[in-house]
Parts: sequence; C-alpha cells; structure tokens
Amino acid sequence: MVKEEKKISIQDIKSLYVRNQKITAVTAYDFTMAQLVDQAGVDMILVGDSLGMVVQGEDSTLPVEMEHVLYHTRCVAKGVKRSHIMADMPFLSYQANHEDAIRNAGNLLKAGAQSVKMEGGEEIADLVWYMNKIGIPVMGHIGLKPQSLHRMGGYKIQGKSKLEGDEIFNDAQALEEAGAFALLLEGIPAELASEITASVSIPTIGIGSGVGCSGQIQVIHDILGLNPDFKPRHARQYAQIGDMIKNATQHYAQDVVSEKFPTEAESVHRNLVEVKRNPS
Ligand code: KIV
Repeated sequence: MVKEEKKISIQDIKSLYVRNQKITAVTAYDFTMAQLVDQAGVDMILVGDSLGMVVQGEDSTLPVEMEHVLYHTRCVAKGVKRSHIMADMPFLSYQANHEDAIRNAGNLLKAGAQSVKMEGGEEIADLVWYMNKIGIPVMGHIGLKPQSLHRMGGYKIQGKSKLEGDEIFNDAQALEEAGAFALLLEGIPAELASEITASVSIPTIGIGSGVGCSGQIQVIHDILGLNPDFKPRHARQYAQIGDMIKNATQHYAQDVVSEKFPTEAESVHRNLVEVKRNPS
C-alpha cells in the first residue's frame, strides 16, 4: 500500500524550531511550480500577494484581491503533498473589520491553506488573538510591509533607527502574545532580526533580514532568475531560468520557421491510426 504523505503542520514547524533546524520557505502561485518546490522538500509554501507583481504584472501588491489569492491557493493546493501551505491576506481583506477578516481567512483555509499571513504588528494583535482562538493559525509580517508602501515612501529597509527598531521589536512581542505561530521579518537590519529572534519563543522567518532568523523565505521568481533584470540584494539567483526560457523558446520558434519541428517521429499519419470496432 502506498503510504500517504502527511502535510507539515504548524506543530511540525514548531518542532523544527525547537530542534534549531532552519525552516525553509518559498512562494508559489500555480500547480506546476507548487509541485516542483514541494518535491524539492521546502517546509513551507506561501501563496504570497507578491503574485500581484510576478504573476499579474502590477507594480505593487495593493491591487491584489481576495478572489485572486483564493484562486492561486486552490491551484497550489492541488500540487502539494508535503509542504505547509500558507496564504497571504491581501490589502483590505482584514483591515476594515474583524468579520471580513475572519470570513476571508476562513475561505483561504477552505481553499487549501493551513495558515494565513497578515502584515501588521500591535494594531492587528486583537485580530490575531481571535483568529488563533477559532482555529486559524496566523503568521505576523512585520518590518518592511509592502502593503504600507505609501506610508513607508517606497520599499525601504525598516528599523534602522532606535525608535523604529523598538517599534518593530514591540510588534514582535505583541504578535507572539496574541498567539501568532511565527513571524515574518522583512527588510530589517540583521542585528534587529537576531534580537527579535532571541526574544521570542516562536520561529522567525526572514527575508532581507540576515542569517539570524529561524528560517528564510524567498519569492521563487527571484531565486530562479525568472526575471533576468530583477536582482534584489536580498535574493540569490540559484538558476537563470528566465534566460533558459527565452533561449528555449527562440530555438523552438527557429525550428518551426525552418520546418525542423515537428519531425516524422513527432507526427502521426492516417494509416497508423488503429480504429477499434465495438464487437457487439
Ligand atoms: O507576498 C510575498 O511573497 C511575501 C514575501 C515577503 C515572501 O510576503
């Protein structure tokens, strides 16, 4: 009998953290990529609202709607056997009132996510507390919060000054107290991320926040080099898939134009098709 693979739960994430094992996470937005990164063995897959930029071609995450994240979460869930699936709460899906927030988060779990991620610190602590109580695990996202683009005045490193650093530190404490199962620390100085990591008893997952976090998360397009012209400092390109796609597609187009594709072996002929008659 084939043994069913079990999905990584928030308790499994906690065990990795307790064993001091670094937690690995990437984003995915569709069935094929989700299947590949799941087979690669990452612990967590985030259906991030970064889909606004890398899938929809927007220049921020602000236009992303609940229905978009729901759709991509369903696609990802079909491809994943083992990794923990977390879905992002997009802009305005949780800020207006708690009732909307709970219904939206619940719908993400119905679509196949096992947890949700929300941007915010102290100001969302009440909501995180309630969601946790009713069975919706939440990762709090602090530091550089892309949904606060206009307040930040751009995608800038946060927490460089003592005052800003203290605010982010306090946000981390408030989220832990509210019952967040983990924290995402984006775009903060490595020292601050290490201090936060040492001060809380839940995993911290970093992006652009140094090596001292309990784990790391990256947008899959950035580490695969899917957009050859976008090389953010916080990401490392482990492959140049964007160039490979361009080269392979050019090669295919040349073969079509020069009639090298398809060959005989890639074609079927009338006299090779067997017609099976129904004996009755
Ligand atoms: O939406 C996203 O991809 C994120 C990143 C910080 C990982 O939240």
